Amino acid sequence: MRDPKERLIFPLDFSDLKEALFWAEKLTPYIGTFKIGLELFVKSGPKAIEKVKKKTGARIFLDLKLHDIPNTVSAAVKVASSYGVDFLTVHVLSGRKALEEAVKAAEGGLKILAVTLLTSLDKADLLELGFNGEYLYKTEDLVYKLSFLAQSVGCDGIVSSAKEVARIKEAFPHLITVVPGIRLEDSPQRDDQVRTATPYEAILNGADFLVVGRPIRLSQDPVATCLQIHEEIKKAIEAKNV
Ligand code: C5P
Repeated sequence: MRDPKERLIFPLDFSDLKEALFWAEKLTPYIGTFKIGLELFVKSGPKAIEKVKKKTGARIFLDLKLHDIPNTVSAAVKVASSYGVDFLTVHVLSGRKALEEAVKAAEGGLKILAVTLLTSLDKADLLELGFNGEYLYKTEDLVYKLSFLAQSVGCDGIVSSAKEVARIKEAFPHLITVVPGIRLEDSPQRDDQVRTATPYEAILNGADFLVVGRPIRLSQDPVATCLQIHEEIKKAIEAKNV
């Protein structure tokens, strides 16, 4: 994947399908994958997938972060497969059996991406949820442990922060790595993202795909921002191959 466009995922974080389609069409030349998350899917359902596919011809990442009993996860993955989507997220904390069922139920080239720990959880949240001991103080070890489980049951990839991706990619090079929390060097704005990285750093660290939303959406010139990200991705790919 040397074409930077193919590395770029744009989240359609809108509840209005018309607005989502406006952005999808505008960014089609620069984006390889459009991510449909809970907001748009809860509002518009499978129609959103169908319309974005038809309008863009791009890959679709259905980010539903499934977290349920194995039987329910399996049934949901089967239905998602029937929509012809390319990526679907499942929480590792659903447990080994649910992950196994997800992998088994995926058809038609659907890739299962495992979500380890939500980056919104801090140490106080983890303590409250019953995590303690070494994993409370070294969350990167917990993320690594959860990644180990995900890859051992055959998940295709993982969603990870740019901080953890290097260790994961080194240990499990076959895992597809998807990294959100990307911010451009010249934008001071980090929004609610805590652990950010530039596109260059993330690719250099081992990201296969970058999820970039607000830096593009809130830019005064979204197309120019996409092109700037492409340049950074290109430079990082070249630097890695030297
Ligand atoms: O670039 P921006 O912060 O706007 O991207 C937000 C998108 O990234 C959302 O769709 C969100 O679901 C996704 N995401 C995230 N942090 C994670 C996993 C996914 O922000 N740890």
